[in-house]
Amino acid sequence: MIILGIETSCDETAAAIIEDGTNVLSSVIASSQKMHAITGGIIPEQAARQQLKSIISVTQTSLNEAKLSEKDIDAVAVTVGPGLIGSLLVGVETAKTLSWVWDKQIIPVNHLVGHLYANWLGDTQPTLPAVGLVVSGGHTDLIYMKDHGQIELIGSTRDDAAGEAFDKTARLLGLPYPGGPSIALASQQYLDQKLNLFPRPLLDDKSFDFSFSGLKTAVLREVQNKDLNQSDKNRYAAEIQEAIVDVLVTKTTRAIDKYSPKSFLLAGGVAANSRLREKFEEKLDKMNVEFFVPSPELCTDNAAYIASCAYFNNNPVSWSEIDANPELTITD
Ligand code: KG4
Ligand code: ZN
Repeated sequence: MIILGIETSCDETAAAIIEDGTNVLSSVIASSQKMHAITGGIIPEQAARQQLKSIISVTQTSLNEAKLSEKDIDAVAVTVGPGLIGSLLVGVETAKTLSWVWDKQIIPVNHLVGHLYANWLGDTQPTLPAVGLVVSGGHTDLIYMKDHGQIELIGSTRDDAAGEAFDKTARLLGLPYPGGPSIALASQQYLDQKLNLFPRPLLDDKSFDFSFSGLKTAVLREVQNKDLNQSDKNRYAAEIQEAIVDVLVTKTTRAIDKYSPKSFLLAGGVAANSRLREKFEEKLDKMNVEFFVPSPELCTDNAAYIASCAYFNNNPVSWSEIDANPELTITD
């Protein structure tokens, strides 16, 4: 089965063509991230306008790169939420139109569940049940996935998301947007030092919930009224990264211990972080679980995992029944 996936939930306009949920025939992404770097964050109205400008050419390019035409496509999959409403509408209305004009099935996809399916795009697929951690710009969700379509939320952030913590603290250090990659880059030469300056919120709490807003406050208190040179910024960046990684890895491995899944699935933009990947690898090496993490390009937003998720959760609806929903949660 060949699925065209469309993803426009935030500042990436993406289309991809996937065969049988695992084989990437094409994956095309246009990003307005550089524009948002100038303003230090996303202006939703601007993001939506960029989506409109790019969607047709990105979709056409995905067909061209796969060397396919619309007659080869079996279904259209699209992100319906969560995300920015203006951005989501561009993808949803485009998918509806294609589905109607081409007379194809349309499959709605939850962006957060979609992220997990980046782990199915490869040679070996995860065995279920799995514990999954989705760490993105707006979400930090720890889940137990019994089977496709059966997801239970076991923990999530009580305030800021992990990606948001990277983005906001990077801004306090004067590092460019998006903050995650900037902090990762700045951290490099300080990684082998003792890094415990900042708090690890909820680390000793028995729940699987996270909290990152205290970290932002601690960083603000530490750096305000200081004239930071590059080496100070690098050291603080390493401290921030270590605090976030420490909490994510410690709490998630506790959940893996409790649920004894066959696989652990790391996903979302923050999963591109090499320190996080390395720490999970180290910790899980001694545990009886198979660790899956997508290549860094597949961690950040793209349409390949949207099409894969649609294949494994094939719930087509009529084009007239599909709507964007910016508030979707991972269990909706
Ligand atoms: O999943 P994603 O691409 O978009 C959303 O659905 O939100 O995640 C974006 C988030 C941003 O907060 C960005 O700073 C973070 O992922 N991110 C990273 C890295 N690359 C992207 N965080 C830490 N290290 C990275 N290498
Ligand atoms: Zn995302």
